[in-house]
Amino acid sequence: MRQTELLAATDHGIARAARLLRGGELVAFPSETVYGLGGDARLDSTVARIFEAKGRPSFNPLIAHLPDLAAAEHYVTFTPEALLLAEHFWPGPLTLVLPLRPGAGISPLATAGLETLAVRVPAHPVARALLRAFGGPLAGPSANPSGRVSPTRASHVMAGLEGRIAAVLDGGACEVGVESTILGFGDGVRLLRPGGLPVEALETVLGQRIAPHMTPKAPDRPTAPGQLGSHYAPGALVRLEARAAETGEILIGFGEVKGDLTLSEHGDLVEAAARLFHILREADVLAGTEGRIAFAPIPETGLGQAINDRLRRAAAPRP
Ligand code: TXA
Ligand code: MG
Repeated sequence: MRQTELLAATDHGIARAARLLRGGELVAFPSETVYGLGGDARLDSTVARIFEAKGRPSFNPLIAHLPDLAAAEHYVTFTPEALLLAEHFWPGPLTLVLPLRPGAGISPLATAGLETLAVRVPAHPVARALLRAFGGPLAGPSANPSGRVSPTRASHVMAGLEGRIAAVLDGGACEVGVESTILGFGDGVRLLRPGGLPVEALETVLGQRIAPHMTPKAPDRPTAPGQLGSHYAPGALVRLEARAAETGEILIGFGEVKGDLTLSEHGDLVEAAARLFHILREADVLAGTEGRIAFAPIPETGLGQAINDRLRRAAAPRP
C-alpha cells in the first residue's frame, strides 16, 4: 500500500504529475471521456504495473495518448482516411488503430505484441497540458479495477485504485462520460468500439459507411476489441509447466526453474510481464524452425493470471 497523491489541476499539480510519469510512475488523468490510468508507454515495467494495478486477467492492448497529430505520426503510419478523420476530429473522443512504426519504441506489452497501435489525442485541457509537460506517449486504459465501471470523477478513481497508483490528477467530472469511439483501418474503415463520437458524424466526414468489425469465425458477431488480429504467436511450438528442457527445446525459466532465458530470476511477476513479449520473440529466434519453447510454471496469482492467459494461447493447438 502506498499513499496516492490527489493533485489539483494547477500548473504545479500538472508539473508534479508529469515528473511522476517521467519517473515511470502511474498517474490517473482526466480526459473528456473517462479518467485514464496513465503510464509511459515506452517502459515495459510501467506498462506491466498498469495491468497489475487494474488486476486485468489478460493483456489487452492499450491506447497511446498523444498531444497532437504530429506526435501521433511519430508512432504510427496514417492511411488517407485516418488522416482525414484525425484532422477533423482531433482533439476529441476518437481512437485510431494504425500500423505501428518499426522502432517507434512502444513497449510490446502496451500493444500486446500486435503490429498496430491505438492512438488518440484527447480534448480535455488538463490531459493536453499533462501530455505536453510529460512529452511522451501515455498508455491509458480506463482508470478502474478490471470488471468495474469506468471512472468519470477523481473520486471514482480513488475509490478503485487508491494505494495502487502514485497520483490522481483531478480535472473534475468528465463531459462525455463514455469511452472513445475506436476505428480500425485494416480492410476498409471498421468500427471496433462504438463510443463518445457518433458513427454518423464520422461517416459524414468520410463520405462512406463504416461497417462494424466482424470476426471471420463468427461473421454475424462484431469482434470485441482486444481480440482483434492474431496476437503475436511464436512460430515454434510451445509447452507449458516445464521444469526441465527436453531435446531441442529452449527453456524459459521463472524463479527457481533456471532456463536458457528467464522471465524473472527472482520470480517477480511484474518483471515477468514486462519481459514476456520480448522473450517470446527472442526464444522464437533461438528455437528456429524445428525447435520448441518450454515455459516454467508461472503462479496463477496477480499478473500471473494474465501471463498464463497469454502463454496458454501461445501453446494452444494450431489451426
Ligand atoms: O476514452 C477512452 O478511450 C479511454 C480514455 C482513458 O482515453 N480509454 C480506454 O482504454 O477506454 P481501454 O484500455 O479501457 O480500452 C481500449 C480498447 C480496448 O478494448 C483494446 O482492446 C482496444 O482499445 N485496443 C487497443 N489497442 C488496440 C489494437 N492495436 N487493436 C485493436 N484494439 C485495440
Ligand atoms: Mg476500459
